[in-house]
Amino acid sequence: MVSPAVRAAIDEEIAKMPEKRGALLAALRLVQEERGHLCAETIQEVAEIFELHPAEVMEVVRFYNHFHERPQGRHQVNVCTSLSCALRGGRGLLRQIQAHLGIRAGQTTEDGRISLGHEECLGACGNAPMLRIDDAYHLDLDWLRTQQLLDGLE
Ligand code: FES
Repeated sequence: MVSPAVRAAIDEEIAKMPEKRGALLAALRLVQEERGHLCAETIQEVAEIFELHPAEVMEVVRFYNHFHERPQGRHQVNVCTSLSCALRGGRGLLRQIQAHLGIRAGQTTEDGRISLGHEECLGACGNAPMLRIDDAYHLDLDWLRTQQLLDGLE
């Protein structure tokens, strides 16, 4: 169950919106902050709050990279693989990271340290290749710098 504190925060977000559904993203963010991820049961619960079908909520969860259906590692590493980054080695960088961590994009290291993903353009094309670690952008990367960043994550 969503905690009373999170439920109250969701109700506050709903009150700001002309339509209840307008608060769905904020609600999902609040629930994920509390639980770490959005499992089917949680999605059902959110759907009930918003009087939506669970499939509608699931569509939103799957559309946005920052929502997760499974437990995640302590750090999110997301490599941009869109055109500018790809042309400057972004996809190769992702392959090197996969080999270094022993996981593929979409997976989490066994020690729960890192969840790896790739995403579409993050608007930093002028500094390609780049990746995002949690909320921080890291730009103009090469493998040495990337390895230092990864190995420095607790
Ligand atoms: S293509 Fe990677 S930031 Fe735009």
